[in-house]
Formats: sequence, C-alpha cells, structure tokens
Amino acid sequence: MKKFSFGIIGKPLSHSLSPLLHNFWFKKYNVSANYSLLEISPDEIEQTIKRIRKKELQGINVTVPYKQAVIPFLDLLVGDAKETLSVNTVMLNEEGKIVGDNTDVYGLEQGFISKLKNQNLEQSKVLILGAGGVTSSVIYALSKKGIKQIFVSNRTLKKAEEIKKRFPFIEIIEWKNIEEKAKKMDILINATSLGLKNGNNFDQEFKVTKSNLVYYDIIYNPEETEIIKKFKKRNIQTLNGLEMFIYQGQKSFLLWNKINPKPDKELSQTIISKL
Ligand code: ATR
Repeated sequence: MKKFSFGIIGKPLSHSLSPLLHNFWFKKYNVSANYSLLEISPDEIEQTIKRIRKKELQGINVTVPYKQAVIPFLDLLVGDAKETLSVNTVMLNEEGKIVGDNTDVYGLEQGFISKLKNQNLEQSKVLILGAGGVTSSVIYALSKKGIKQIFVSNRTLKKAEEIKKRFPFIEIIEWKNIEEKAKKMDILINATSLGLKNGNNFDQEFKVTKSNLVYYDIIYNPEETEIIKKFKKRNIQTLNGLEMFIYQGQKSFLLWNKINPKPDKELSQTIISKL
C-alpha cells in the first residue's frame, strides 16, 4: 500500500506539534500516511509546492512566516483563505489545481468563539494584540460572528496598517496605549508571540480590566502563559490556544483525507504531555 506524505512548512519548526496531531489521527483511523516537519527557507517554498503537483506530497500545512508568502505559488485560494489572504492548508484538488485554504478561522470558531457563552457578542469590544500571521484570521472569525468593534495593536505600526487595508472597519491602537485601551475591553486576544515557551513576556500588567473580561491567548505552549496566570489570580476568564490548534488540524485532516477526526481527551492529554 502506498504511504501518503504530509508535512508542515515554516521556520523555525522545532516546537511544532502538528506531526504529533496528524500522526495520532493517522494511527487512530488506520490511514497509511506520515506527517513530518519541513523546515525550509523562503527560496524553497516553490520547490516544496511542486512536490505536491508531482504527488510526492499529498498536502502541507503552512505556518509562520509563510502563510502569505506561499500564495504566489498556488493556483487558487479557496474557503477562508480568500478573505484572509492567509493560507495554512495546501493540497491538489480534483482538477489538478494546487489550492490554498485556511483552517485557522474554523479553529478559532470552534476552539474559541463557540466558548464565549453569555456574551453579547455584537456589542463586545475586542482588542487584538499583534498583527502577525494569524491576526487576519482572528479579525475575520470575529467579524463573521457580528463583532464590529475590533481594535488591533502591534509593536510595529506598519503591519497593523497593512491589515487595516484589508479590514477597514478595524481601529488601530498604538502599542504604548494598549494597557489603557484594555481597561474598556470585553475580550482581549494575544496574537503575538509574547508568552511563548522560552520567549519574552508582556511588560504590561493589564491590572485594570472589566471584571467580566475574557482573555484569549492563541499560545498553547506553555499551557498557561505568565499573563494567563496573572489573570487567573484575579478570577478573569482565560482560554488558551490548544483547542484552536486541534480544530484547525481537524479541518486540514478532513480536507486531505475525507475523514473527520474526533478530538478526544486522549489526544489533548498526549499533546499536553509534550508541552
Ligand atoms: P510574523 O509577524 O513574522 O508573521 P508571528 O509570529 O505571526 O510572526 O507574529 C509575531 C507577532 O508578535 C508580531 O505581531 C510581533 O510584533 P512585530 O510585528 O512588531 O514584530 C509580535 N511580537 C513579537 N515580539 C514582540 C515583543 N517583544 N513586543 C511586542 N510584540 C512582539
């Protein structure tokens, strides 16, 4: 039986848990396939995409910093990749075209937005910190839910301004003002790399917030970032990015294998044990 090959492109990749996720499901659903890390430099994106055309690879995920950089090498964008211009899943379609899709939006909907109970979402004010690879997916997922008051701040202002060109309804906040702005927010989202294992943390304390603030961290490694620990001490509701990670992977797996894998406790525990 032919063994199918999948992988993830990005750099650096050493901490990616996508191989763990997909190989767990390949085993569970008896799919003869393997998923590996493909750490490549920007000038290798084109040849990696060609491997999909040649059917050496059946599909790839794309992560930082290539979610946009991959687009010129694809034949077409489908699904949420069209609106976000952010691609995390690539495959050959039935017509032999290389398509780029985005499953991060679905991951955010299932792993984050669906957990926002008792929230008057249409009236909610949301501040997104960061304007990197995942921010356009966050804005799109929130706006699909009817959230209109979306603020974005990024250390490098220019990147926030680039995002505003695509989503003109967002309001840009200067990085130096985020603590002040956070005081009035209903939802605060960390889409920066601040808090990642072995990385830098926020200098800001966010000591004053609404008592019913929801803090969402797209980071899941560590399970609790320093800022999540601080919010938990104040009984502020927090969520981490583990479920988003699992659900974006679920949709990629479905697109590639036509099997909808079921997230379960064993999978979550397997992932958490590797953090
Ligand atoms: P990329 O921006 O290359 O797509 P990313 O991991 O998706 O990479 O995004 C990193 C995000 O974390 C960016 O918003 C980045 O801000 P800059 O655009 O100013 O680089 C943010 N970030 C990383 N380190 C930071 C720090 N020390 N302080 C504030 N923001 C930081």
